[in-house]
Amino acid sequence: MKKVVFFSFLLTFFVACNPDDKGGLTDIPYNPTPYTLSIPSQFPQMDIPADNPMTTEGVELGRFLFYDKILSSNGTMSCASCHLPALSFTDANATSKGVDNIAGRRSSMALENVGFVTKGLFWDGRSKTLEEQALLPVEDPIELHNKWTQVIEKLKVHADYPTRFRKAFGIKNASEITKEMAAKAIAQFERTLISGNAKVDKIFRREAEFTDDEYSGYLLFFNAAGAPDAQCGHCHTTPFYNSNDFFNNGLDSVANLADFKDLGRGVITKRSLDNGKFRAPSLRNIELTAPYMHDGRFKTLEEVVEHYASGGHYAENIDPFIPQIKDIRLTTKQKRQIVLFLKTLTDTSFVNNPAFKDPFN
Ligand code: HEC
Ligand code: HEC
Repeated sequence: MKKVVFFSFLLTFFVACNPDDKGGLTDIPYNPTPYTLSIPSQFPQMDIPADNPMTTEGVELGRFLFYDKILSSNGTMSCASCHLPALSFTDANATSKGVDNIAGRRSSMALENVGFVTKGLFWDGRSKTLEEQALLPVEDPIELHNKWTQVIEKLKVHADYPTRFRKAFGIKNASEITKEMAAKAIAQFERTLISGNAKVDKIFRREAEFTDDEYSGYLLFFNAAGAPDAQCGHCHTTPFYNSNDFFNNGLDSVANLADFKDLGRGVITKRSLDNGKFRAPSLRNIELTAPYMHDGRFKTLEEVVEHYASGGHYAENIDPFIPQIKDIRLTTKQKRQIVLFLKTLTDTSFVNNPAFKDPFN
């Protein structure tokens, strides 16, 4: 009897010290909990890729990775450096700066309801899925400027991450951690960033009421009840106040379609008529995401509305709705009412949700 105990003790000792089993994780249970998204009734269902089902453990791992500076070359930045929860996951800069303090040419995008974006991520729609997108910032020289191979080496020997990858993805050994798993986890976290509890939602649920000015702004925005047509609702449609499509909303006057400073969608489709077109982003939480447009050129919502009210700048492919906005000669009061309506899209329960905040704090 004694002999057996001694022998099995030796065996465990041997297994634990076996260099081949370094990073072994099989004594940690793999039993992921399915994560059910709570999607507001006014929203469509979200498409979840079959090869990346949502689990509580996956979402939590993704949240850690999203906030972890381990992803950057010099340990100074994480995804959240440019996507701050208090600002609906954008930053306060016109264009975002990466680890080397080099400014990119575009403005960070809000991540509220990003799981519902269907026709391509980024201002130009170049990235198809959140899983594909999440791989990019780590190696982007003007973002985290790191190498995934280096990130993965650090994750494999980390005190906490091997266990988290085990619980989320069932790996048997820390050496099995891949960048694709990290990207899947980040994507799972991003899909939970659902914002559908703004004042406007409460109004539609009959739990709140517009003020008179907000209501006038709403009517202008959607050309409702015989109000003058400020055209906004054609491109910023409910329930996200966005389009998954690309437009030239008249920001720049160019004589030739090749002259846009940023060719936007045209680079992706290689059609010159798409030059200078960008995705019409969601206006939910827009009050929190200044400055505005793909290059952050407008500091305030008042400036944005002023831009539209002027009918925009002419280019061959300007969307025909834009010049028409000038025709209704929005008064100072009406412009103010549109801004007041836009502020009813702010969802404070979203930006204050503890589940979305930095887990290291
Ligand atoms: C240096 C700042 C910076 C960092 C760091 C950063 N981003 Fe971004 N993010 C941006 C900018 C700028 C854009 C828009 C880029 C474009 O359209 O070309 C963007 C766009 C996105 C989008 C597209 C949103 C949409 O609606 O299409 C997602 C998703 C995203 N980032 C997630 C992440 C994740 C995940 C990380 C970390 C792995 C990260 N970002 C790190 C600045 C940053
Ligand atoms: C023809 C389609 C179209 C119409 C009409 C339109 N927009 Fe836009 N909107 C866009 C596009 C496209 C962008 C992004 C453009 C860019 O960044 O280059 C945008 C951007 C915005 C932004 C900034 C978003 C951000 O995250 O920076 C606001 C605010 C906005 N629009 C409000 C309005 C309002 C208010 C109206 C009506 C007065 C309106 N829009 C009419 C297409 C449209």
